[in-house]
Amino acid sequence: MAPKTARINDELITLLPKETLLHAALRNGIAFPNSCRVGGCGTCKCRLLEGDVKELTETGYLLSAEELQEGTILACQSVPKSNVTIEVKLAASRGIGTRGHVVGQEKVTHDITRLRVQLDERLNYRPGQFADVTFADLTGVVRSYSFGTPPTDSGQVTFYIRRVPDGRLSSFVDENALEGKSVVVGDPSGDFWLREGRAPLLMVAGGSGLPPILAMLQRAAALGSTRPVTLLFGAREERDLYALAEIEALRRTYPGDFRFIPVLSLAQDTDWQGERGLVTDKLPALLEHGAHAYLCGPPAMVDRATLVLEAHGVAREHIHSDRFTTRADVDSPQLAGTASPVAGAFHYLKFALFYAIGLFSAASLLAGGGLITAGLLLVLVLYIVGDAIGGDDTSTPTYSYPRVLTAQLWLALPLLTLIVFVSVWSVCAGDPLGFGGWVGRWAGYDVLAARATTSTGHHVSAWLLTGLMIGMIGTIPAHELTHRTWDRTSMFIGRWLLAFSLDTTFAIEHVYGHHRYVSTAEDPATAPRGRNVYMHILASTLKGNVSAWTIEAQRLDKKQRRHWSFANALLRGQLMSVALVALAYAMGGVRAAGFFVACALWGKALLEIVNYMEHYGMVRSPEAPVEPRHSWNTNRRVSSWALFNLTRHSHHHAHGEVPFQDLRPYPDAPVMISGYLTTIVVALIPPLWHRLMTPRVVAWDTRHASPEERILAARANANWHGR
Ligand code: FES
Repeated sequence: MAPKTARINDELITLLPKETLLHAALRNGIAFPNSCRVGGCGTCKCRLLEGDVKELTETGYLLSAEELQEGTILACQSVPKSNVTIEVKLAASRGIGTRGHVVGQEKVTHDITRLRVQLDERLNYRPGQFADVTFADLTGVVRSYSFGTPPTDSGQVTFYIRRVPDGRLSSFVDENALEGKSVVVGDPSGDFWLREGRAPLLMVAGGSGLPPILAMLQRAAALGSTRPVTLLFGAREERDLYALAEIEALRRTYPGDFRFIPVLSLAQDTDWQGERGLVTDKLPALLEHGAHAYLCGPPAMVDRATLVLEAHGVAREHIHSDRFTTRADVDSPQLAGTASPVAGAFHYLKFALFYAIGLFSAASLLAGGGLITAGLLLVLVLYIVGDAIGGDDTSTPTYSYPRVLTAQLWLALPLLTLIVFVSVWSVCAGDPLGFGGWVGRWAGYDVLAARATTSTGHHVSAWLLTGLMIGMIGTIPAHELTHRTWDRTSMFIGRWLLAFSLDTTFAIEHVYGHHRYVSTAEDPATAPRGRNVYMHILASTLKGNVSAWTIEAQRLDKKQRRHWSFANALLRGQLMSVALVALAYAMGGVRAAGFFVACALWGKALLEIVNYMEHYGMVRSPEAPVEPRHSWNTNRRVSSWALFNLTRHSHHHAHGEVPFQDLRPYPDAPVMISGYLTTIVVALIPPLWHRLMTPRVVAWDTRHASPEERILAARANANWHGR
């Protein structure tokens, strides 16, 4: 079957099988507007003019009745069923950004053009960042390029644009005289910039990856940095080297030691006097002790350089990179086609840690008496000590059998059912289903007698342990499953898992509310600075439920369905929770039902505590896309394994469509206090929490926030201290 095509404004692209429109557009270098990528924010709205698409999610949550009628679709949730034509307003072509005109155009190699653009106003950005660029004469064609100089007071910016085969914008630049032509430059993006510090700098540029590194070094020189610099510039042939005058100027004026080593990979038969070979092969000999690395170039070079540097002792958090392909490639391993190793059996098995913990918890609940408390303590120790001594897991293998991992998620439902059944059984007066008698005969251990000796204190332990399991084995797999809005089985299992914490509203509010508004004042789950966790549990629960009802009611209005009807997903979800309470009541009356509700509420509270930890004090303008910097991240090993990489929260929020196994560790992201359970314990002690988190929040303002976010952060700080 011939591959399907999509005409996006004037550009024709070819789709991969089962590929969404957004994915295909980004893969083809089109700066298609997007944010959440899970059908939760509406940023990728576009109009379907011709053809047919399969919609992966219920678009009624986001689109108005008029939009639905006029053929508006969500590109991130639409897989073409035929060749399609769509119309979208691309950000820079809508005039969103800063206008300017070309004041200089110069060929610096046979295929790279340097463009100097005079903007109408000064644009603030961090040297190393990139922006979308478009020309008035090239309507609808937008591409991302890194700034090649630091910001100037005059508002002049520089881009180096390499001609790529069939590249519409790069060919336009290559073939036309552009001086005086109008340009729009979008908002600066990206997390690639020079971090403060005193460590020596190893800067590695491959091909057209030099400009952001040049901009960083020019800024460092202007600030009087004395950090020793080694700049490696890898190119194919001598004719591919460029900006040599700028580098020479840097070498002369940079206040500290400055080494420049160009390396040519195709210089065998020439009289080239410099280094030959692959730039990555030169790294071990040139690496200074304690150096921090900045890499920019093609994905293969960046990946190889990262491996070499790690093998030579450079910590992952000191390796910063920009893969310098499309905007999507910067963040998405699926698009970049990285050279990740293929996952082996261990990589699948590590996510089964939660079975071991779950079965162990069920056994200790069944064993009764002091063994329940001992089981709880052991689980806590495993997480807290394991995270303290286990280090980080930053592996990103490629999983050839993702269905195995999906099956692991689905199996959470029978496992959680078993745990909660045993827990509720442990407070029953009788022996529902003859379960205790059967276990006693089978195991040779009288669980009924053990249950009879269980004291109130150990029942409290059972409550704590069960709530913990509802959070870990219920909510966390459910979180992953309910993101898969296109997969009915996953949604069904995910909602039942959520019913155990009486929180099926999460399936609505999280995807269509939280992912849209995260880190803004509109998001119930983002705790403002200064709030304590107990207040957050209450506020987030109440506001989250109101938000879910509002979202669902709006969807029903658009579909012209009654709010109080079976069409209401929120009400259907509550019925699932009621069914579980009724089952607990059937097992052991009011006492059993009350115990189940208490466990469920503790499980729900844990979810809100986790929300608190993941987004505390973050700020973002609702118009700005969600970036990895908008979540607190951790790569602690035990937490990552037992919680299905929920820990890699920065990538999850920046790319909500990425399945858990493909999430990347983002060592540059803001870092949480420790692993999840340790951080939960800290959060429960507000003075300790604020003592440990306030410096991190302050560091976030200086290291991660954009200029606009700094203003929001200053307001948030004033609100906090003004209370
Ligand atoms: Fe498509 Fe958010 S709805 S990017």
